[in-house]
Amino acid sequence: MSDSRPLTIALSKGRILEQTLPLLQAAGLHPAEDVQTTRKLMVDGDCHGEKVRFLIIRAADVCTYVEQGAADMGIAGRDSLLEYRPHVYEPLDLKIGRCRLCVCGPKALVEAGTPERGSRIRVATKYDKLASEYFLAQGIQAEIIHLYGSMELAPLVGMAERIVDLVETGGTLKANGLIEETTMCNISSRLIVNPASFATRKHSIQSIIESLRQAVELSEQTK
Ligand code: PRP
Repeated sequence: MSDSRPLTIALSKGRILEQTLPLLQAAGLHPAEDVQTTRKLMVDGDCHGEKVRFLIIRAADVCTYVEQGAADMGIAGRDSLLEYRPHVYEPLDLKIGRCRLCVCGPKALVEAGTPERGSRIRVATKYDKLASEYFLAQGIQAEIIHLYGSMELAPLVGMAERIVDLVETGGTLKANGLIEETTMCNISSRLIVNPASFATRKHSIQSIIESLRQAVELSEQTK
């Protein structure tokens, strides 16, 4: 990939984008158009007088774009980083997109007690690795049923006994008669950087990291 292209930053579509934009603004990163409404997937922009480029992609794909060097930096959820384990630097916790990765299930089933060691359960999730490792450590034989979204539906239709999914307000669980069994870990969005880009564009990247660090601190102080 040529180094003459503008520094490229991958942003996650969806609910994280709304929380990302004020941080970008405060850090002096300005997309030339509204990234929330445009149908464009690549948008030019400016950072302190230098050209930059934003890629607007699905959260789970940010790790791939940054790992492959198609983006120099990106904003990815800790959930994706833990699941996909890309070879990237992770210099900054942006403290947005906060939620938790949980094991959840139908209220009656969860209240009946955690599955015993050696028992078999079906688990619907998009976090195949994390879920497998978690249940393996508990001595539970988990059949992982991979889904791309709306995991909460799987127990309702008898397809799984548990789900492993993100919980923020708990509203989706409640609306579907599910409850949390265990919190596996806390999640927030992280700034990630391609290692080769960091080596070749150190000055620009460090300056963006520093601006974002200050924007995060400011935003935390005003909460
Ligand atoms: C996420 C997550 C839960 C929901 C949790 O899904 O997968 O379904 O949000 O949020 P809550 O605790 O505030 O209700 P999202 O809406 O991003 O869509 P998805 O199911 O397609 O991943």
